[in-house]
Amino acid sequence: MKIIIINGPNLNLLGKREPEVYGNKTFSDFFEELKSKYNTVDLEYYQSNIEGELIDKLQEIGFSYDGIILNAAAYTHTSVGIGDAVKAITTPVIEVHISNTFSRETFRHQSFISPNAKGIIIGFGLKSYELALQSFL
Ligand code: DQA
Repeated sequence: MKIIIINGPNLNLLGKREPEVYGNKTFSDFFEELKSKYNTVDLEYYQSNIEGELIDKLQEIGFSYDGIILNAAAYTHTSVGIGDAVKAITTPVIEVHISNTFSRETFRHQSFISPNAKGIIIGFGLKSYELALQSFL
């Protein structure tokens, strides 16, 4: 089973970015733990701060992989383009967020991803990614 985690802008700063919201762990440490726990899964990771690169990646892998775990970060709330890409591809997408976006500012309550996601997992910290992975297994 081929699964990819795609992270959007500023998620490369996990570990030092607002630790009270996003925790202390770096994503690469978390990803290594996840890979060794689910070592039968072909698990990849991609991160970009650039909207078009995220769309390119979704187009590139979105017709052949078994699942996409997508945290589009701030672009969740702004990007019609990423929302359209999620709609265009055939690989199912689980939208995840580390924080509970609904307990935060109202601009975080809107998502251009959700209408075309297979499911949504929000607010469980980094565990949100693991729950998404489990849903594909
Ligand atoms: C986030 C929530 C977004 O509102 C925010 O812009 C992020 C991270 C989360 O995982 O909690 O960058 O997607």
